[in-house]
Amino acid sequence: MPEKIGEIIITEADIKTKIKEIGNAISKDYHGKEPILICVLKGAVIFATDLMRAISIPVVLDFLSISTYAERSEAGAVRIIKDLDVDITKRDVIVVEDIIDTGFTLGYLLRILKARNPASLKVAVLLDRPSLRIVELPVAYKGFEISDEFVVGYGLDYNQRYRNLPYICLLTSTK
Ligand code: IMP
Ligand code: MG
Repeated sequence: MPEKIGEIIITEADIKTKIKEIGNAISKDYHGKEPILICVLKGAVIFATDLMRAISIPVVLDFLSISTYAERSEAGAVRIIKDLDVDITKRDVIVVEDIIDTGFTLGYLLRILKARNPASLKVAVLLDRPSLRIVELPVAYKGFEISDEFVVGYGLDYNQRYRNLPYICLLTSTK
C-alpha cells in the first residue's frame, strides 16, 4: 500500500463532544418540528448516524449519493446517483456532509434541493477546509476547521479505505 496513516488531528473524544454540541443545537433550533436529515453518501454516514443519536427531537433520516470527487474537474459536473426516498417539499431539511472543500459538491446539491421547495434548508458539516473554498456556502452547524492536508477516518476515505477509523487523521505517502 503506497499510503500510510499519519497523525491523528481530531480524536474520538473530540468528535463525540462536538457532535453532542451540534445535536443539542439542532434539538433546540428545531424544537416542535421534525427535520429531515439528508446524509450525503458515503462519507457522511458515520457522522449522520452519530449526530441523529445526539438529537432529542423526532428526526427523519434519508440518503443521497452523488458522483465522486474525480469527476469534479469536468466543469463542476456533479450527478445524483441515488436520490432521496422522501419528499422534502415544505419540510425542514438539514444536509449532513462529511467535509466542505471547494464547496462545489454541496453548492450543487443545495441548488437541487432548494428547487424542491423545502420549508427550510440548512447544512451540518463535520469538517471545513476554508482555504480551498471556491463556492461560498452558508453552514449552520460546523464541527471542525482543518488545514490543506488530506484526511481520512470517521467516514472519510482514500480509495474507499479508512472510513472505519474512529478518529480523523492525516494520510501520508511512504515513498
Ligand atoms: P468539494 O466539492 O470540493 O467541497 O468536495 C467535498 C468532497 O470531497 C467531500 O464530500 C469528500 O468526499 C471529498 N473530500 C475532500 N477533501 C477530502 C479529504 O481530505 N479526505 C477525504 N475526502 C475528501
Ligand atoms: Mg463526500
